[in-house]
Amino acid sequence: MRKIYVFDTTLRDGEQSPGVNLNTREKVKIAYQLEKLGVDRIEAGFPAASPGDLAAVNAVARAVKNASVIGLSRSRTQDIDAVREALKGAEDPRIHIFLATSPIHRQHKLRMDKAQVLDTAREALRYASKYFSSIEFSAEDAGRTEMDFLIEMTEMAIQEGASVVNIPDTVGYLSPYEYGEIFKTLKERVHGIEKVQLSAHCHDDLGMATVNALAAILNGADQIEGTINGIGERAGNTALEEVALALETRQDFFGAKTSLQLSEIARTSRLVSRLTGMVVPGNKAIVGANAFAHESGIHQDGMLKEKSTYEIMTPETIGLKESKLVLGKHSGRHAFREKLVDLGYVVEDERLNEAFNAFKILADKKKDVTDEDISAILDEKLLDT
Ligand code: KIV
Ligand code: ZN
Repeated sequence: MRKIYVFDTTLRDGEQSPGVNLNTREKVKIAYQLEKLGVDRIEAGFPAASPGDLAAVNAVARAVKNASVIGLSRSRTQDIDAVREALKGAEDPRIHIFLATSPIHRQHKLRMDKAQVLDTAREALRYASKYFSSIEFSAEDAGRTEMDFLIEMTEMAIQEGASVVNIPDTVGYLSPYEYGEIFKTLKERVHGIEKVQLSAHCHDDLGMATVNALAAILNGADQIEGTINGIGERAGNTALEEVALALETRQDFFGAKTSLQLSEIARTSRLVSRLTGMVVPGNKAIVGANAFAHESGIHQDGMLKEKSTYEIMTPETIGLKESKLVLGKHSGRHAFREKLVDLGYVVEDERLNEAFNAFKILADKKKDVTDEDISAILDEKLLDT
């Protein structure tokens, strides 16, 4: 089965989430957990951004033994030097150099023409290759870059020794079809494409970051970049746990796999949420509190008979103990009876009906009926006898 490399950027693009600021100790904690999760590459930060971030990247570089540690760099010698400094002591150091390539960025941000963009990136790659044997190059805003120019940039990066070329959809603009087509075209038209890994880096502005990453995989991407819980700049990045579970659950369709220890996903998600302060929405795929919770009577009845009726993956896969049957106004008698058994009540049919009716009246008034509520109903009904 084709292996997809996982490049985790929780500590860099994830930390760019408004309001998030991780100190060195927190970055190292998350990095250790990412190592346990089995990511291949950890982008630890942007060393030129601040002395604090340089120190944090260095601490991660020294701590991590089983993943490549990466520092981000603009196409400037000072940034490259900062990454050199930050990655001292790393087992498997890697630099990630980027430069914007789209007409919008060339004109308004860089004020460079195509030739200047090519030259600037080439010089940066040449300088970096004196110090690094593993280099990733990103054509920032590749998603809105002319195809011919993206091909030229990719060929230049290959000639200058990049081992990974990343194709970011920086502003989360593309549809899965368009994003997939870019990978297909690069595979077909770039000279020397077999010498590099192609990487997908997606943002979620239109809610398509996960599906775009999957489209890239279907069209030849070797690596996906993303974050835990999908945190990141603006609406965030591809949620790595979503891609990993999509590949795992639909192996028949994608025919590709990551090397992640999936049973570490829930723990990693909780740690990242706690240390970043970014709360995971209840309905978030895979790691939301409701991802394995069932409320309606029809679904609960199906689940109690056979779990595969309403679950396409098991909570155990991501390291959770079990699915939850939540009692609310949509719940049915089957789940209610199971709950009574769990709580240790033995009730004959007539009392069960009365208790069930009382539960329904309460459920109309209350979103979530707790174990304490059920016990109160039962204790009252049993005392009535
Ligand atoms: O989204 C983006 O383009 C980035 C680059 C720095 C790779 O995060
Ligand atoms: Zn990004």
